Amino acid sequence: MTEHAWSLDTLAIHAGQPPEPMSGAVMQPIVLASTFAQEAPGKHKGYEYSRSGNPTRRALETCLAALEGAKHGFAFGSGLAASATLLHTLGPGDHLVCGDDVYGGTFRLFDKVGRPMGIDATFVDMTDPGRVRAALRPTTKLVWLETPTNPLLKLFDIAAVAEVTRAAGVPLAVDNTFATPVLQRPLELGATVVVHSTTKYLNGHSDVVGGALLTSDPALAERLAFLQNAIGAVPSPFDCYMVLRGLKTLGVRVRQHVASASRIAERLHEHPAVLRVMYPGLPDHPGHAIGKKQMRGPGGMISCELRGGLDAAVRMLGRLELFHCAESLGGVESLAEHPAIMTHASIPPEQRRAIGIGDGLVRLSVGLEDLEDLWSDLARALAG
Ligand SMILES: Cc1ncc(COP(=O)(O)O)c(C=O)c1O
Repeated sequence: MTEHAWSLDTLAIHAGQPPEPMSGAVMQPIVLASTFAQEAPGKHKGYEYSRSGNPTRRALETCLAALEGAKHGFAFGSGLAASATLLHTLGPGDHLVCGDDVYGGTFRLFDKVGRPMGIDATFVDMTDPGRVRAALRPTTKLVWLETPTNPLLKLFDIAAVAEVTRAAGVPLAVDNTFATPVLQRPLELGATVVVHSTTKYLNGHSDVVGGALLTSDPALAERLAFLQNAIGAVPSPFDCYMVLRGLKTLGVRVRQHVASASRIAERLHEHPAVLRVMYPGLPDHPGHAIGKKQMRGPGGMISCELRGGLDAAVRMLGRLELFHCAESLGGVESLAEHPAIMTHASIPPEQRRAIGIGDGLVRLSVGLEDLEDLWSDLARALAG
């Protein structure tokens, strides 16, 4: 199949997934075997041992690579397993530059795992790509950004940062978890590698933890293939199947997430209990123009700062009925959470405050329930 000729919605259903040759089954078999018989030592059908390679995982890796327009895909047991494997392309004495607003676990990985490995990290606000240039050192081996960022939903100009990294010969990693390839394709904008927590929109049903790295850089792909096997943080074939199944509806899901989140963001913006709404689709969002340029929609995530601070945020989260108060995002069900206490607790309080994660901040993952049901739940929880 000439996969790159198809549109994203078609690739999400078919890429890497021809009918199974024995029976014609149109869904991928879940190949649970941990090992594969060899005709003679070293003579096999492409699979030797399931950590090194597995047919169900290969189907997922091929599909994800096609969605991001990458030549190579690598699946992992979690988003952080993907990030940790990428971190292992660096060694003692190396340095990385990371956006200042990233998932708390990514910050913890670089700060608490990378630093003891001898890998120094600088966290900068990348809304000005000049700050990325200023942070580069001769030892910088990776620049890492999330856009939209978690949880402040800042947007960074991927093409502008890529220009800086390309000139310096440093690879650029973009965590595309919030946007998904439906809304943003970082490799087309100059990124070297895309990182995903497939736990979120890609699987989309809050029943798998997984991750992926996608790249077209042959040298990086070779190193990642080595590290994926050598470190071994791979997903189970069952989880790969689940993500493949979720991917089939990615396009329709994401478009509906965007439609509902856009309406809810507008209504929150007018609500008297809300001090500030962070949503790239709102015209007053500082990254609105960048979003128009590099995204096909502002996404399904909204953060808002409540006027009443911590008390108001905790009260609101306790009153919600339809939105579950839970970590994670990107599933069919709506979720609400308190970044300072929940997803971003691993960032020290003074640093959280410095980048703008206040105690009144609430993050919403707008799901696929009826829009008016979602709004009445939010309005009731915000009332009083
Ligand atoms: C943007 C982003 N990247 C990476 C991760 C880590 O993914 P996982 O929880 O699958 O390890 C998360 C988790 O919330 C995330 O929000």
